[in-house]
Amino acid sequence: MPNGSNEGLHVAIIMDGNGRWATRRGLPRVAGHRAGVAAVQRVVERALDLGVRCLTLYAFSSDNWRRPAPEVQSIFWLLRAFLRLETKRLRQRGARLEIIGRRDRLAESVLREIEKAESATAMGRNIHVRVAIDYSSRDAITRAAAGAAAVLEHERVPSAELLATMMMETMNTQSADVDLLIRTGGEKRLSDFLLWESAYAELLFTDRMWPDFGEADLEAALEEFKRRERRFGGVVSVEPQTAVASIGSGL
Ligand code: IPE
Ligand code: IPE
Ligand code: MG
Repeated sequence: MPNGSNEGLHVAIIMDGNGRWATRRGLPRVAGHRAGVAAVQRVVERALDLGVRCLTLYAFSSDNWRRPAPEVQSIFWLLRAFLRLETKRLRQRGARLEIIGRRDRLAESVLREIEKAESATAMGRNIHVRVAIDYSSRDAITRAAAGAAAVLEHERVPSAELLATMMMETMNTQSADVDLLIRTGGEKRLSDFLLWESAYAELLFTDRMWPDFGEADLEAALEEFKRRERRFGGVVSVEPQTAVASIGSGL
């Protein structure tokens, strides 16, 4: 069955290609990150209008700390500016903003802006925008497993449900499954993003660099998603009786 409207969808985006976008124009990489912020603004607005329920944006991975210090500093400078300047607009549009990822390595000034933006938008009901900063999916899963081990009795094995609950607790967010995962910038990899939550996500890779990604690209991605047939391990168009009969036969 093709997928219907965008209502209730969780779209996740690996916003890649800022550096190459800038380099190709003879600009410093930071210019690409700045243009990337403008793309975030466009895409959040369009996602709101299109009725997307949750938008998770990969902005800075835990492995991105390996980059030269000036680049890291300018990314966090842009993040702080984004939070300071965009919170009011997000609040007006009924968006709830949340930062996911580790917080213990962030500077005080960044933490303060994050907390302000989160509390100012906490009542937003129209869209849930999650920005992943110092995020590593392996780290999130590892911490969830440690949390599960702490609540389980000795030698009991955690269920997938318990791990999912622990993931939400340790990340302090709803860790819903991803419906559509988009990666811009031409690479075809996940780079440690939402590995657990993307178990059945539809994957869409585009060569478009993130700063060039616009409203029309988001719309085209959602149209492509609607054409995909999701099966979740089942089969399509099987009569209910046939399904029951084959389970009963033990085959
Ligand atoms: C994505 O763009 C933004 C971050 C990782 C912070 P890149 O900076 O990775 O851009 P490319 O991949 O080098 O072009
Ligand atoms: C993934 O992009 C992280 C973000 C987009 C924030 P990278 O540019 O860091 O990924 P790799 O290094 O190409 O895998
Ligand atoms: Mg990159």
